Amino acid sequence: MPTAALREAPSDLAKSERARWIEAFRKVRRETERRAAPLSPEDQAIQSMPDASPIKWHRAHTTWFFETFLLAPNVPGYTVYDERFAFLFNSYYVAAGPRHARPKRGLITRPDAGEVGEYRAHVDTAVERLIGEASTDALPDILRILEIGVNHEEQHQELMLTDILHAFAQNPTQPAYDANWRPPRATAQAGYAELPEGIHTIGHEAEGYCFDNEGPSHRVLVGPVKIARALVTNGDWLAFMNDGGYANPMLWLSDGWAAVQNEGWQAPGHWQDCDGEWKQFTLGGLKPIDPAAPVTHVSYYEADAFAHWTGKHLPTEAEWEVAARAGHLSGAFGVVWQWTRSSYSPYPGFTACDGALGEYNGKFMINQMVLRGSSLATPDGHSRVTYRNFFYPGARWQFSGLRLADYAERFSLT
Ligand SMILES: [Fe+2]
Repeated sequence: MPTAALREAPSDLAKSERARWIEAFRKVRRETERRAAPLSPEDQAIQSMPDASPIKWHRAHTTWFFETFLLAPNVPGYTVYDERFAFLFNSYYVAAGPRHARPKRGLITRPDAGEVGEYRAHVDTAVERLIGEASTDALPDILRILEIGVNHEEQHQELMLTDILHAFAQNPTQPAYDANWRPPRATAQAGYAELPEGIHTIGHEAEGYCFDNEGPSHRVLVGPVKIARALVTNGDWLAFMNDGGYANPMLWLSDGWAAVQNEGWQAPGHWQDCDGEWKQFTLGGLKPIDPAAPVTHVSYYEADAFAHWTGKHLPTEAEWEVAARAGHLSGAFGVVWQWTRSSYSPYPGFTACDGALGEYNGKFMINQMVLRGSSLATPDGHSRVTYRNFFYPGARWQFSGLRLADYAERFSLT
């Protein structure tokens, strides 16, 4: 039975498709501004460490992305809003020209937050006009880039929250991003799901958008393994801490132990020792530790040491995906990203596309680890079972947690 869209005349179909994309574009642009709205211009200018970026920078960089990759190549005679912005707001696209040093983003007071708002409005108008007026022949290529830009901005929406949390954590007055903020509770499901040995297909093969690093889909051998239905909790983590987990080098990877020493880690990120009681700095300010809540702001090194302490392991990303597709995992999405023990490598047959957008994912496929799922900061609709997030193993300013895998039975099956 034809859908409503298919019953429309071709010209109406194109019109409704354009309207749909204009609305999708507006929605993502509105959400960025909604996330920035509680923040003053001073809040928006600060950069608390090289990995984090100022909120104002996120607002401008996502705008530069549309201007550079969508408007400039597709709007005849397009004049950029300010030719200096390409240097300030290019992140890592070497093919798109020289750029400002990442650790110095917090030193840029001009343009101010208000002017970044004007820059956004200028580009919004031009993008909407392009979608509405592009020739039918040009539209598919334009929408392909637009869709990347929308998904790119959604990724930065998550970073806005992790980066302002890290910035506010440096402030002795403990400001709250949102006084009403509450941590999400994963529905607790005890025990482990069994994955018998089998060949499975992982990677993106369905309809709908994905980033290039999610394909090609391919077959993998998984199991036998048991994978925890639940996320590791703060209560679990306190037991690890109380058992001297951060003081026992036998639990740690060599690089991880060096990080513990160099960084002075004694607890997850954003935990504070308040007169002998641990508290967690959150988007809602400083809160007591909730033992039932999933642990977050742990690095790969900490996740691996915790798994070692339990006598278990982190799952591979293939194990995670197979278990998630089967519906075995609680808290898979919308709570914390989950470290896997898979290094971030190209899937068999992966090739990055030509040009600057080929730099989006492929060039980072070294020395990082894959996280699966999504977090409380991930925008609605951005999660997928095939989504591959990736960070360096020492990173812990993201909403990163873990679940365990158990191979005990693997060794009794001989
Ligand atoms: Fe970006």
